[in-house]
Amino acid sequence: MDLNNPGTTLLFVLLSILLVVWFLKSKQPHKGRLPPGPPAFPILGNLFQMDIKEPHKSLIKLSEQYGPIFTVWFGRCPAVVLCGFETITEALVERGHDFSGRYLLPVFKRMSNGYGFVFSNGERWKQIRRFTLSTMRNFGMGKKGIEERIQEEAQFLITAIRNKKETPFSPKFLLNCAASNIICSIVFGDRFDYEDKKLLTLLELIAGNSRDLSSPWVQVYNNFPKIMDFLPGTYKKLFQNGANMRTFVKEMIQSHKESFQKDFPTDYIDSFLIKMDEEKHKPNSEFIDGNLLLTVTNLIMAGTESIGVTLLRAIQVLVKFPQIQEKINQEIDEVIGSCRRPTIEDRAKMPYTDAVIHEIQRYVDISPIGLPHMVTTDIEFRGYLIPEGTCVVPVFSSVLKSPSQWETPESFNPNHFLDENGHFKKNESFMPFSAGKRICPGESLARMELFLFLTTLFQNFLFNPVINHKKIDISPIRSAITSMSRDYEFCAISR
Ligand code: HEM
Repeated sequence: MDLNNPGTTLLFVLLSILLVVWFLKSKQPHKGRLPPGPPAFPILGNLFQMDIKEPHKSLIKLSEQYGPIFTVWFGRCPAVVLCGFETITEALVERGHDFSGRYLLPVFKRMSNGYGFVFSNGERWKQIRRFTLSTMRNFGMGKKGIEERIQEEAQFLITAIRNKKETPFSPKFLLNCAASNIICSIVFGDRFDYEDKKLLTLLELIAGNSRDLSSPWVQVYNNFPKIMDFLPGTYKKLFQNGANMRTFVKEMIQSHKESFQKDFPTDYIDSFLIKMDEEKHKPNSEFIDGNLLLTVTNLIMAGTESIGVTLLRAIQVLVKFPQIQEKINQEIDEVIGSCRRPTIEDRAKMPYTDAVIHEIQRYVDISPIGLPHMVTTDIEFRGYLIPEGTCVVPVFSSVLKSPSQWETPESFNPNHFLDENGHFKKNESFMPFSAGKRICPGESLARMELFLFLTTLFQNFLFNPVINHKKIDISPIRSAITSMSRDYEFCAISR
């Protein structure tokens, strides 16, 4: 073959590429009988069929063609996609154990190595989940103790907003401070002043992490981790950011190790250190430094942005719809008045406010595809054979915005949660916290925070927009694993 001839060289290169593609394609796993899905390109998988800014929308569109369960390929890795209430409930709840694994997307594998709470599996995950839930309950989660903590934090938030003296400001930073302080008091045993350098560093790291995780580059990385590891790119900040976050948490753990008293644990870290001491002679104990570091990092991350973003979007929604803000204010005036702090008991007497908060969570849909699951053993599901270790993507957005479950799925409508008598009405398709064995362990804490923070905010202020309220766009900038909100300024007028 004459490689000096450009035509021959081109043919040679093309043939080589085809051979490599064929070789790689032939190495894709064949085990099992996965549900059919859209045709995938060799190596690239279904990358080009995904809206890289909002992949859940592409998945919902594909489900119109392929049904509620189908397979897509992330590069050379298959993922079984679940859409709709029936399919997701059958998998995550009725077949809870089979679907309880966490699939480690390459980005999370590199960040956690399988340690901690969110990205662990098997015995490690079971023990850490059980321990964390019971420890958080001991420190008052879902009980009076944490209610008082949230009420107190809500007052700090009110003072900080009052200091803005009714001038325009974006509430994003202050809301994140308040949200972070709740999970910080459970995990670190203390809150921070809003000017404290430690809190500012922590919030910067969390915001950076969330911003980078919602970047389209993360999807490209998840498809081609080995190639991307060798290439430069802004997405690499994510790993640097993750490392800085772990350094921050390591320092907090170290100061606990130096000062804690075994008989008086005051927070989550103290309790974990006690458990580590109890199990220090136990071979294969999961209560080790690596799991402590990653679990604390997971809790702080999961407990800050989720609440901060929901509160921010709640204010934006209520400013966009002033008539809804007005009705909430009316209910607050009737049930709580202006002289005392809102309590969690008030919720049962405030069906309209409760319905609005539920509708905010349904509508803003901050975790449209949640976190990927994994099947824990070879299983048969709806006539398909799904091998152990297969990635499963439950599209929660397909339930929260399902036309068959909600009267007006794409518009904001508190009536979704109210009956004809104005009483609060539950809907089984409300699953922003997921369902089954991996359901968000922070759900009761989150629900308490959302109610107490929002009622305290609207008890004290009327939020006015700087631009025409109709121009406020309440859709996210982009959302995938996390959601990036738009940012607007408001004037908080004392009521
Ligand atoms: C509005 C607030 C929140 C929302 C919408 C939310 C939503 C979610 C979702 C969708 C998942 C994935 C579940 C799955 O894999 O199926 C999750 C997991 C998790 N959340 Fe939340 N969350 C919120 C607040 C919190 C808070 C306050 C905490 C702090 C305690 C927290 C801690 C966690 C943890 C540790 C996991 C991983 C659970 C596991 O893998 O077993 N979340 N959350």
